[in-house]
Amino acid sequence: MLFKRSPNGIDLPYSSEITPREVYEGRRQFIARIAATAAVGSGVWEMANREAFAQGSAQRLAATRNAGLSTQEQQTSFKDASSYNNYYEFGTDKGDPVENAHTLRTRPWTVTIDGEVKKPVTLDIDRILKLAPLEERVYRLRCVEGWSMVIPWVGYSLSNILKQVEPTGNAKYVEFTTLADRRQMPGLRSPVLDWPYVEGLRMDEAMHPLALLAVGMYGQVLPNQNGAPVRLIVPWKYGFKSAKSIVRIRLVSRQPRTAWNDSAPNEYGFYSNVNPNVDHPRWSQATERRIGEDGFFQRKRKTLMFNGYDQVASLYSGMDLKKFF
Ligand code: MTE
Repeated sequence: MLFKRSPNGIDLPYSSEITPREVYEGRRQFIARIAATAAVGSGVWEMANREAFAQGSAQRLAATRNAGLSTQEQQTSFKDASSYNNYYEFGTDKGDPVENAHTLRTRPWTVTIDGEVKKPVTLDIDRILKLAPLEERVYRLRCVEGWSMVIPWVGYSLSNILKQVEPTGNAKYVEFTTLADRRQMPGLRSPVLDWPYVEGLRMDEAMHPLALLAVGMYGQVLPNQNGAPVRLIVPWKYGFKSAKSIVRIRLVSRQPRTAWNDSAPNEYGFYSNVNPNVDHPRWSQATERRIGEDGFFQRKRKTLMFNGYDQVASLYSGMDLKKFF
């Protein structure tokens, strides 16, 4: 997410880390965006885009809003949330996933849940969609790169699926493995990460009601570039913990390896809780830019501890969060 490995092995920082999006996207594209917005109005553009998605494979999902777990903040537009993405299996630039992820096949799709469980199971995606009542939850997502979005996800607490398999007493951590198929994912040709993309949570984190197994957003199934057909959303952690297109959930006794920690252990810790007091080695984490609030004069927002999800603080009581970053 944050550096490209050049052929000679030197790490190149991404322009997107350090430059405002209008510069990063390119001046011409930015001007075109402004012109289009002025011409049709962003609301109309947004509707047209959603319409286009609806005409494809997008299936609407009936879900009840979980108001207690949802923020009232203004939502990021569907267009921004589905076209400014990190999904390295489809390329490392923010615009690559929306361009390339049409090759992802999301049916048939199964997720295997095994390891330290009494009842291992392989579930079809259509079963997963019906395993528990679908909720809409509007969560803030804070990327480690310093930007954030507010997205209405559709899904249910991850704990629903974990309880089904009856974890044994040895289940201390959960490992999430995502699809790595070279035929579908052009980004796998690049050695930017050690594929497959793997993430992990401690068992109590995974069982926390806020940890969401998401199957949709904005009332529809997930667009491929957002991690179809099923992904994780852990709103109090940096976005890279929220693994996309999951194929296996394994309960384990030891802390699992994770793709980003393997790639740069001093930069991406296992916990990766949003924390304005612990800077990334190469930049501050004190503030963030809300996607959609563009412009050189737009003030950045203060980043909140645990991304504002204070209800998880007790999971970490007594831990030195500078050490366990
Ligand atoms: N999951 C996979 N499989 N591959 C990825 O490259 N990127 C992560 C995360 N999940 C990533 C992934 C990062 S860095 C972020 S910020 C979020 O997905 C972005 O999710 P979004 O595109 O839906 O906003």
